[in-house]
Amino acid sequence: MRLLEEYYTLSNGRTIPKIGFGTAPLKGEEAYQAVRDALDAGYRHIDTAAIYGNEEEVGRAVRDSKIPREKLYITSKLDASIKSYEHAIAAFHESLKRLGMDYLDLYLIHAPWPWNEKFSDHKEGNVAAWRALEKIYKEGLANAIGISNFDPDDIQNILDSGTIVPHVNQIKYHIGHPQKATRELCDRHDILVEAYSPLGRGGVLTDERVVAMAKKHGVTPARLCVRYVLEKGALPLPRSSNPTHIKANADVDFTLSDKDIKTLDSLVIDTIEFGTPKKD
Ligand SMILES: NC(=O)c1ccc[n+]([C@@H]2O[C@H](COP(=O)([O-])OP(=O)(O)OC[C@H]3O[C@@H](n4cnc5c(N)ncnc54)[C@H](OP(=O)(O)O)[C@@H]3O)[C@@H](O)[C@H]2O)c1
Repeated sequence: MRLLEEYYTLSNGRTIPKIGFGTAPLKGEEAYQAVRDALDAGYRHIDTAAIYGNEEEVGRAVRDSKIPREKLYITSKLDASIKSYEHAIAAFHESLKRLGMDYLDLYLIHAPWPWNEKFSDHKEGNVAAWRALEKIYKEGLANAIGISNFDPDDIQNILDSGTIVPHVNQIKYHIGHPQKATRELCDRHDILVEAYSPLGRGGVLTDERVVAMAKKHGVTPARLCVRYVLEKGALPLPRSSNPTHIKANADVDFTLSDKDIKTLDSLVIDTIEFGTPKKD
């Protein structure tokens, strides 16, 4: 489980554990137990969001684990419908309250548009929300700030109007879904890409080409998916409520050859869409 103890360094010099644990759409006791299991397995990076409705359970699981807060990395996200400065500040404090924490490691704008208005234009609102995140960051209430589901146009909007370059963009990223244009822009500005749905919500695990490659390496398709994201310099956020899967998903201390990566890079795999438009 060596990878659970490794870190990426963000553009602001802060470190972030290389593998995070996803918590959507887990709720209630299932969310609580999954986070406890992940912490027991050695994960120290937990990804939640206001809209997941599980911040209270995440906070309780963290406290019950007795792991010191400073040893953990906690991310939450501003509800995608909030596009004003004042509401964004208030929502951040509500998240802190639900989590029972006095700071976050990372706070993200969940999406550039409300979920019920996908791909609509909220450039002004995103700049207003970003100003709020910048204030939160400057006050030391979040150690890093970022965006999620932002495509190149939406990223450029923040680059043009903000004073801080986002530290992270959390996007749907997995074998067969490379999001090349977004990835290139993020790399150019040293914005770390966090990979949500790194297993394609399970949809990549049955692809016969992925299954064959996993077999060749003597690993499960899930472990191959997580390793691939790491080989691409992105940060996987696998989610599971099965303790065996939780452990196995972080057991990725093996390497893929350049040829294998090229083969995986060439795949196109359609899985459930959460929001990120397919731009490739
Ligand atoms: N920013 C955003 O807009 C956004 C959107 C979506 C997700 N996310 C974040 O990213 C996290 C992960 O994404 P996701 O939940 O969509 O999908 P995912 O992690 O790609 O896949 C989760 C699914 O894979 C299964 N699974 C996990 N490990 C497995 C294994 N070793 N073998 C077989 N099946 C396995 C899980 O079932 P079991 O429980 O049975 O293992 C579950 O059905 C979320 O929880 C959330 O934190 C963010």
